[in-house]
Amino acid sequence: MQDIDFAPEQHAIWAELYRRQVPKVRQHASALYLEGFDQLELPSDTIPTLDHLNSKIPAATGWTVVRTDVRFTDADEWYRFFDRKEFLITNYMRSRQELDWTPEPDMFHDIFGHLPFFMLPAYAALQEMFAPAYLAAESDEEKENIKRLAWYSTEFGMIEEGGELKVFGTGLMSGGDEFTNAAEGKLEYQPFTLDNVLGVDKVMYEQHDHLYVLESLDQCVAELALYLVPIAARAG
Ligand SMILES: [Fe+2]
Repeated sequence: MQDIDFAPEQHAIWAELYRRQVPKVRQHASALYLEGFDQLELPSDTIPTLDHLNSKIPAATGWTVVRTDVRFTDADEWYRFFDRKEFLITNYMRSRQELDWTPEPDMFHDIFGHLPFFMLPAYAALQEMFAPAYLAAESDEEKENIKRLAWYSTEFGMIEEGGELKVFGTGLMSGGDEFTNAAEGKLEYQPFTLDNVLGVDKVMYEQHDHLYVLESLDQCVAELALYLVPIAARAG
C-alpha cells in the first residue's frame, strides 16, 4: 500500500510526543492498553509506516489501518469505515505549540492513543458494537447518544484495575496535562452507566472536569449493549 513521506519536523514531533508520553502511560494506563502497546511495537523516533501497522493489527484482530488526508472525518463517514473494520488515521500532525493539548485529533492521537488497543480481540469486539448501531440509528438524537457513549468510554473513559483508577480513553492516552490530571485523581469521577452518560454533551474544545469510570471491559460491553444492541437489531 502506498505510504507518505512526512517532513523531518513531523517525525521530530512524533519523537518528542512519544518520549513525553511513554513514561506516563507505563505508570498510569490500563493494563489492556499496555498489553497492546507492547505488541504493536511503535517506533519511538519516526512516524510509523502503514506497512508496519498493517503487519501487526490485521493479524491480531482483523482490523486494518487506513490513512486519510481529511483532518476531521465526520461521524457518518467514520462509522462506514468502522463497519468494515477499517480505522482511519489522519495525516495531520499537531504543531509544536500544541504538544500538550490539541482539540483536534491528530495522527499522534489516532496512532498512539487508539491503535495499541486494536491488537486485542476483546477490545476490538467492543469497538465493533458501535457501527452497526450508528448505521441503523433513526434519529439525530440516537446518533448523538451513540457518539456520547463512545466518547465517554473509548475516548475519555477511566477504568478500575486492582482497586486503582487507570487511564483507558484514547483521547487521554495522547494528552498532556489532561492525562496527568485524570490519572492523579484531580477530576470528578462517576460510574460509566447509561443513566450517567446519555444526557451529557461531549466536551470537545476544552479539557474535561469530569470523567466516567468503567468497572471492567466486560462491564463496559454490557452497559453499551443495553443501548446499542436493540438499535443494531433493527437492521436485521
Ligand atoms: Fe479518537
